[in-house]
Amino acid sequence: MRIDLVTIFPAYFDALELSLLGKARDRGLLDVRVHDLRDAAHDRHRTVDDTPAGGGAGMVMKPEPWGEMLDGILGAPDAGPDPLIIFPSPAGEVFTQRMARELAHESHLIFGCGRYEGPDQRIFDEYAERGRIRLVSIGDYVLNGGEVASIAMIEAIGRLLPGVVGNPESLVEESHEEDGLLEYPSYTKPAEWRGRAVPPVLLSGNHAAIAAWRREQSLERTRRVRPDLLPPEPGDGASDSPSMA
Ligand code: ADE
Repeated sequence: MRIDLVTIFPAYFDALELSLLGKARDRGLLDVRVHDLRDAAHDRHRTVDDTPAGGGAGMVMKPEPWGEMLDGILGAPDAGPDPLIIFPSPAGEVFTQRMARELAHESHLIFGCGRYEGPDQRIFDEYAERGRIRLVSIGDYVLNGGEVASIAMIEAIGRLLPGVVGNPESLVEESHEEDGLLEYPSYTKPAEWRGRAVPPVLLSGNHAAIAAWRREQSLERTRRVRPDLLPPEPGDGASDSPSMA
């Protein structure tokens, strides 16, 4: 997968040289390129922002550097066949494991990391008309820019690419995967630590009993901290309620 990142803080993405994603890059599974937006700002101060039209607080990112940078990436001879531009934004659709799985099938992603009040709206309008673009939020809170959100999304997407995680089975029994429940608690050796024992069922060798215990733990944890993830109980839905007619 090819990933281009546009940012005014390229150093954020040094983190993508570490751990599994760093190894995936070394092995050619992931081709990450970081672009400094200021390279497309040609005044003496390499200005990328300006005051909002109509007045008000904050600064808006100027369209010209974004246009030049995105045109360069999209028009390069080695660009993917149908790149998807993602602008991280608290005003976007919410990123989920399902979206990560969907995006892992793309061949070329471009992350546009806004700062301040984000880019001028005409950037979104221009590139929506010319190709595919999505505004994506990593949650209902506000960050200072799209860099940290991009790293979170790239890690979630990158680990799903074939060959990135050594044992693909380890991807299956995780929170939000397979059955949509939170993952059960994990233990390792020693069997007792500071008077706390590993649950005896996990040492029993009885695989059916272990699977049942893990399933129950997943359900209990999901009920306690994320009841919104549970499938609706029969009789929960609006369609089951008595007609008001
Ligand atoms: N930029 C600022 N806040 C954000 C968020 N919650 N998700 C994605 N991008 C952001």
